[in-house]
Amino acid sequence: MATATDIDQPLALLGGPKAVEHEEENLFHWPIVTSEDEQAVIDVLRAGTMSSSDIALKFEEEWAAYNGTKYALSYPNGTMSLMAAMWAAGLRRGDEMICPSLTYWGSTMQILQIGATVVFADVDPVTVCIDPNDIERHITPRTKAIMVVHYCGHPCDMDAILPIARKHRLKVIEDVSHAHGALYKGRMVGTFGDVSAMSMMSGKSLAIGEGGMLVTDDLSIYEHAIAFSHYERHHMITEPALKPFGGLPLGGVKGRLNQTCAAMGRVQLRHYPQRMQEIQHAVNRFWDLLEGTPGIAPHRTTDPDSTMGGWYCALGHYRPEELGGLSVKRFAEAVAAEGSPTHPIGNFALHRHPVMNDVDIFGDGQPTRIAFSQRDLRQGEGALPVAEGMGARAFHIPWFKHDRPDSIARHAAAFRKVATQADKL
Ligand SMILES: Cc1ncc(COP(=O)(O)O)c(C=O)c1O
Repeated sequence: MATATDIDQPLALLGGPKAVEHEEENLFHWPIVTSEDEQAVIDVLRAGTMSSSDIALKFEEEWAAYNGTKYALSYPNGTMSLMAAMWAAGLRRGDEMICPSLTYWGSTMQILQIGATVVFADVDPVTVCIDPNDIERHITPRTKAIMVVHYCGHPCDMDAILPIARKHRLKVIEDVSHAHGALYKGRMVGTFGDVSAMSMMSGKSLAIGEGGMLVTDDLSIYEHAIAFSHYERHHMITEPALKPFGGLPLGGVKGRLNQTCAAMGRVQLRHYPQRMQEIQHAVNRFWDLLEGTPGIAPHRTTDPDSTMGGWYCALGHYRPEELGGLSVKRFAEAVAAEGSPTHPIGNFALHRHPVMNDVDIFGDGQPTRIAFSQRDLRQGEGALPVAEGMGARAFHIPWFKHDRPDSIARHAAAFRKVATQADKL
C-alpha cells in the first residue's frame, strides 16, 4: 500500500520512483471472456447460423427483460441502432434534433443520412451530460427530438429534460452507449425516453464484439425500427401503414446482428450485474481515497439512488486553477509516468468540427448540416463554452475492472503524488 512518504518521493517524470511499480494483470482487461463465451460462439460457428436470428431474438428478449422495456431490437453496431431510433422516432428531411456537442459522433452524425440535421446544446460542467438549461433556446418549429447521452456512465438529469420535451412535444431518444445498467433515481437509464439505443462494441461496458441494441415501450416505434432495416422480420409488423413495404428495408440498410456476437452477448449479460457492481466498488473506492486532493474531483453521481453503470471510460474533473495552471495534458503525462493509465478526455465539441460546418457530403451545393434546413444553424466558436472548454478540464482515470484495494490505493497514490507536487512541473 502506498504511504504518505511514497507520495513525497520525486515524481517519476523527473526521475523518481514510480507510484505503481508493476502493471497488474487483468486489472483493466475487458471484456472478461471465459470458456462460457467461447463455447457459445463456437456453437454458432459449428451450426453455421451466423446469419440466422434465433440467438439474436433470445438476446433481445433477455436484454428487454434486464432493461425493463417491452421491445428490444439488435443491430450490427450502435451507430446503426441510433440511426434507426432517429427515423423510428419520426425524424424526417428538414427536421432538427438537439444533441449535446460533447459526445462521440455516433450519437448524431447519421442523422445527416436521413436528411435531417443536428443542433448542438452545451453540456453541464458537473455531469458532462446535456445541460437541461441549454435546451429550450435551440428549439424551433422544426425541432422534433432531443438526443440525450448518459456520458461516461453519468445519468442525464431526466427530471429536468422530460418536462421540456413534453412542453414542446419533442421525442426523447437516449444514447445509452456509455451507461448500460446505470440507474437514474432507482430506474434504469434507457427507459425514460420514447426510444433508446446503444453501442455494445467490445470497448463498451456491455461488450459483445460489435453490436447495438434499440429498446422502447412504444409498439409503433419498434415496428418502424423493424421496417427501417430488419426487412426479414417484416412479418412481425402489425401497423397497416407499414405493411405494404414488406421485404424491403425502408432505410436501404441491413440491421441484422451477427449471431456470434449475440451468443457472446447472452453470456456477457448473465454476468454483467455482478461485474458491473465490482467496477462500481472499485471506482468509488478510488475516488474516496482521493477526496480532498487539489485539482481533481470525481465525475460521479451524488444521488444515492443513481449509479454510473459499468463506469464506461471513467472520467475525472480537472481544475487547473488549483494546480497553478498546470495543463491537464502535462498532469496526465506525469500520472502516466507514475504507472497509472490516464489521458485527457477523448471526445471534443462536435459543433466546431469542419464536417459539421463546411463539408458538402452529398453534393447539395452547401454544407450538408444546413442543406435541408431553412436556416444556417451552424454554431461558431464560443457558442457552447462548457463543451468547448472541457478538453482542458477533464481526464480519463484508470478504468478498474476489479475491486483490489491495494492496487487501487497505489493508483490513487499516483494521482495524489502528482497533484501535490504540481508546482514541480
Ligand atoms: C456515445 C456513443 N454513441 C454511439 C456510439 C456508436 O456505437 P458503435 O461504435 O457501436 O457504432 C458510440 C461508440 O462507439 C458512443 O460512444
